[in-house]
Amino acid sequence: MITFISEEIIQTQKEYMKHVRLLNADKKRTAVVVTYGCAQNETDSDKLYAMLFEMGYEKGTDEKGADLVIYNTCSVRENAEVKVYGKVGTLKAKKKKNPDMVIGVCGCLMQQPHASERIRKTFPFVDMVFGTHVIHQFPEMLYHVLTERERVMQVESVDGVIAEGVPVVYDKWYKASIPIMYGCNNFCTYCVVPYTRGRERSRKSKDILAEINALVKKGLKEVTLLGQNVNSYGKDLEDDLDFSDLLSEICKIEEIKRVRFVTSHPKDLTDKLIGVMKDNKKICNSLHLPFQAGNNRVLKEMNRRYTREDYLTLVEKIRAAVPDIALTSDVIVGFPGETEEEFYDTLSLIKKVRFDNLFTFIYSPRKDTKAALMDDPRTYEEKLKNFNELLAVQTEICREANEAYLNNVYEIIDEGLSKNNPKMRQGRTTTNKVINYKAAREVQEGDFVMVKVTEVMSWSLVGEQVE
Ligand code: SAH
Ligand code: SF4
Ligand code: F3S
Repeated sequence: MITFISEEIIQTQKEYMKHVRLLNADKKRTAVVVTYGCAQNETDSDKLYAMLFEMGYEKGTDEKGADLVIYNTCSVRENAEVKVYGKVGTLKAKKKKNPDMVIGVCGCLMQQPHASERIRKTFPFVDMVFGTHVIHQFPEMLYHVLTERERVMQVESVDGVIAEGVPVVYDKWYKASIPIMYGCNNFCTYCVVPYTRGRERSRKSKDILAEINALVKKGLKEVTLLGQNVNSYGKDLEDDLDFSDLLSEICKIEEIKRVRFVTSHPKDLTDKLIGVMKDNKKICNSLHLPFQAGNNRVLKEMNRRYTREDYLTLVEKIRAAVPDIALTSDVIVGFPGETEEEFYDTLSLIKKVRFDNLFTFIYSPRKDTKAALMDDPRTYEEKLKNFNELLAVQTEICREANEAYLNNVYEIIDEGLSKNNPKMRQGRTTTNKVINYKAAREVQEGDFVMVKVTEVMSWSLVGEQVE
């Protein structure tokens, strides 16, 4: 059952925020939230920060010197898990020196009992352990830690909650990521997300539109709609919009100039949505459409519920409707039982589709998932060899896809100084390509700028402002 968190409960949390603020009134305190994983975790961290600010904390520069540290964890692959244990361990000495320091671990990994137990037992100095369904109760948990100095542990597994009205900070005023749904019902056999995030549930469209409209008043131009499977938005709501209708509604907001969305599951991408993408110029020319594997037996074992042929047909349809669309995707190499021959089906799909970019993963067994129990005869080294072969092919494709940009002019939204060269600025095209560029005159973050591409690399483009 999905629980809608009532306004009274959110109001109670606001009271707790006031109490904590008073407790912190004696001196300046700093907080650091370290985020692992996907955009969904990022938006949860934005909520934690917003609540922390209301409780009198300032953003600290690093974990070592902060009065409060929270690790917001991810469990999608093993390395994300291992990293967290190491990080938490390094805080032991700091906490010894400063017993008032508050340490919390939250997020997806904490929804897995083996991991929350491990944190509880191995790291007794961790004050708060909480899962993904109780973020809105953070002020109350923190109040108890501060006043009673007792450990708080809230990691129950529930179907899921929807909590509106929790404060949130937005990094930038001109672009924002907005969750439109939470959880996942797909149970791909390798994936832990349905266990850590609960059942699929959609926010009401009026709440989403109200959030966007409030941000528009502050200058929002670009919105990215978030969900594990945005194409099934609204299926759980009565008398509300489906995903295509939601997109159309958002595009009607005059000040919104660009709309993006992630992630689309190929099995749920409808002709109606393709039509909306075709007709609506505000919807960006980029689509992230994970295929995971190019072999039908493997796709079936993964429970993806489409075939290689279905995927290729879908790509054709999308490209026919939006010819200059940039396609990106996720792929897993070395799913249990995948043979070398089956891997070559994945490689051939990549060569056929020619993605603009690809997020590539070696299969990582995750506790609680079906695939973790499957026979997995191939060694890691064999999988790594295939993985490297795939990477080499894709790097070449990326470069060639970028070469098509050379000497052409694109409209970008400026995103500030370039990360690799402070003499340059950077921005993104509607196809989500980053261009590092030389400005011809003063440019502000969030401005639309016309840029000519003068140099091409595998992962980015270089250009100069024109006009
Ligand atoms: N909901 C999104 C994906 C979320 S996880 C979707 O369905 O597309 C992001 C990516 O991590 C997945 O697309 C998959 O490629 C990868 N992934 C998930 N579980 C994995 C595992 N156990 N091992 C390796 N990669 C995995
Ligand atoms: Fe995981 Fe599949 Fe759901 Fe994506 S659709 S979150 S890969 S179970
Ligand atoms: Fe995201 Fe990782 Fe959780 S990918 S949903 S943070 S398991």
